[in-house]
Amino acid sequence: MSTDEYKRQAAEAALKLVQDGMTLGLGTGSTAAHFVAGLGAMVRDGLNITGIPTSEGARELAQAAGVPLTTPDETTRIDLAVDGADEIDGALQLIKGGGGAHLREKIVARRAEKFVVIADASKCVSQLGAFALPVEITPALWGLTVSEIRAALAECGYENACISLRRLADGGEVLSDNGGYIIDCALDRIVDAERLDLALRNIAGVVETGLFLGITDLAFIAGPDGIVQMKP
Ligand code: A5P
Repeated sequence: MSTDEYKRQAAEAALKLVQDGMTLGLGTGSTAAHFVAGLGAMVRDGLNITGIPTSEGARELAQAAGVPLTTPDETTRIDLAVDGADEIDGALQLIKGGGGAHLREKIVARRAEKFVVIADASKCVSQLGAFALPVEITPALWGLTVSEIRAALAECGYENACISLRRLADGGEVLSDNGGYIIDCALDRIVDAERLDLALRNIAGVVETGLFLGITDLAFIAGPDGIVQMKP
């Protein structure tokens, strides 16, 4: 079976959690796209839900699928948020942000009553860090922020980290939906994710890291052995 089919199966498992009347956080990426497509089919069959997209890409997909959307305010309750991940460890700690959408994804995931991750089994790791950690920063004075990131990484024991500004094929900077730059930190092995996250988020200019720690309630991982449910 293809990786994409596993992604679809994981999304199908999460769709079973959807109930009429829910407000749903809609994740970003190829796995979450399956969830949004499935949701669209359920809406066409009469399901009454409202979605909150975590990126402009997710918004476009949801609109194309016919999923009704809302702009949240302070009082909005998010019943369930469903999203993919770039890496998932055994404690359900995640690296996200491969698509540069982790700021909005984290805002939605943290607010959700239940945050569910969907992924194919290739995303599971024994230790985070093989996937370069995305960090969104403000474009203003970005070079200074990168030097602070480098210092913070060295302080946390990642002296040899390879840090790069995410660029487009034409050399221009990748801009997130929020207008931020994305710094990718190749760390190889993350030994203390909490300490690293705190150190990075403490830097002026850092908007958000792609570390999702203590947020995930449930994961559906699809692979050759079927669908495995993981809980923290
Ligand atoms: C978007 O910024 C990411 O956090 C995605 O959720 C993550 O990269 C997973 O994407 P795929 O489902 O496409 O692998």
